[in-house]
Amino acid sequence: MALERTFSIIKPDATNRNLTGAINAVFEKAGLRIVAQKRVRMTREQAETFYGVHKERPFFGELVEFMISAPVVVQVLEGENAVAKHREVMGATNPANAAEGTVRKLFALSVGENSVHGSDSLDNAKIEIGQFFSGNEIVG
Ligand code: PPS
Repeated sequence: MALERTFSIIKPDATNRNLTGAINAVFEKAGLRIVAQKRVRMTREQAETFYGVHKERPFFGELVEFMISAPVVVQVLEGENAVAKHREVMGATNPANAAEGTVRKLFALSVGENSVHGSDSLDNAKIEIGQFFSGNEIVG
């Protein structure tokens, strides 16, 4: 088992519904420690860069508009196998396919308005953390 850090976003549909604490409770119960967290309004440029890998996909414009439509909470989560653990507790991208008890089963509205984002690999976690946090903002 390895102690890892992953990057997490609580998305606009969740901040709009005042669900930050409820989602953090799911993460903490799963053994993920919030070692950095801030509420930000993403700029269009930040969102386009962050989701750049999806820029050719038909939903790209909609995804960017959604992510800049309201504040988000960006986070660094730490724990044993944090990347996989976080993805497990988030549940499937489409809430219709998400397992019972996962964040997306509990709270997500649709495949777009799906409440949370989590890094899909340790390499991407490092890149994504670096897009929103400097080293001294992360307190383990
Ligand atoms: S994954 O995990 O990459 O396989 O999932 P994927 O289906 O490729 O989705 C990648 C991100 O795009 C979002 N998404 C959408 N947004 C708006 N409209 C539609 N139709 C849509 N489909 C997918 C999805 O929520 C994923 O966001 P993140 O933040 O990466 O979880």
